[in-house]
Amino acid sequence: MPLYPTPHINAAPEDFSETVLMPGDPLRAKFIAENYLTDAVCINKVRGALAYTGYYKCKKISVMASGMGIPSMGIYSYELYNIFGVKRIMRIGSAGAIRSDIKVRDIVIAMGACTTSSFATQYNLPGSFAPICSYEMLKACTENAEKLGIRYHVGNILTSDTFYTDTAGLTDENLPSSAWGRMNVTAIEMETAALYMTAARAGCEALAICTVSDHLLTGETTSAEERQNSFTDMITLALDTGAELIDD
Ligand code: HPA
Repeated sequence: MPLYPTPHINAAPEDFSETVLMPGDPLRAKFIAENYLTDAVCINKVRGALAYTGYYKCKKISVMASGMGIPSMGIYSYELYNIFGVKRIMRIGSAGAIRSDIKVRDIVIAMGACTTSSFATQYNLPGSFAPICSYEMLKACTENAEKLGIRYHVGNILTSDTFYTDTAGLTDENLPSSAWGRMNVTAIEMETAALYMTAARAGCEALAICTVSDHLLTGETTSAEERQNSFTDMITLALDTGAELIDD
């Protein structure tokens, strides 16, 4: 195993649980640690990528910010799997819906992740790679969503390299979001494909669940309060699922 601490994570493998929840936003990692975990200890502050380990339903669990975008998620997930011995990462993020049956505040569980990024070229594959989640995590997550009565969709998402995509001169039909929507892709976000590829290469497990924060077809958005409420549903879903998958 390469050496730790790394330039990005100033911790040791035993500081982390085998399961790490990853919101994009460091303040969300802090919020989860302070409001949902017991005995939470901050184990990383490098570059503000806050990480905490504590207990949920008596299981040791970690939460760490991924930052925004594929390169950031690529770095942290690589180090967690390959250097810190983490077995399972669950991204908990937000996404913009591109299908009319998906509403703001719904939860999208990413079975697969298409991407506009060239992240996969590093693997020198003689074809294209289909980034997919862990079936075990997906199954546990949908079972917990049913138990909690949470409205969710399981499907493909798009991990985009751009948030502000230049659509000058394009008609509605020709927008990238319309094209991905025609392929039944549920929503757009910016990290999951990197997580799934890094997990696959490391022989580890990953799942991304996202609350729909805005609708790219209707322009509908959520208020800060609505985002917080749907975020808390997602945290409970992620923590219940994460805790259940940890061996005692
Ligand atoms: N694009 C990319 N990422 C996002 C979006 C979006 O529209 N909404 C929330 N995360």
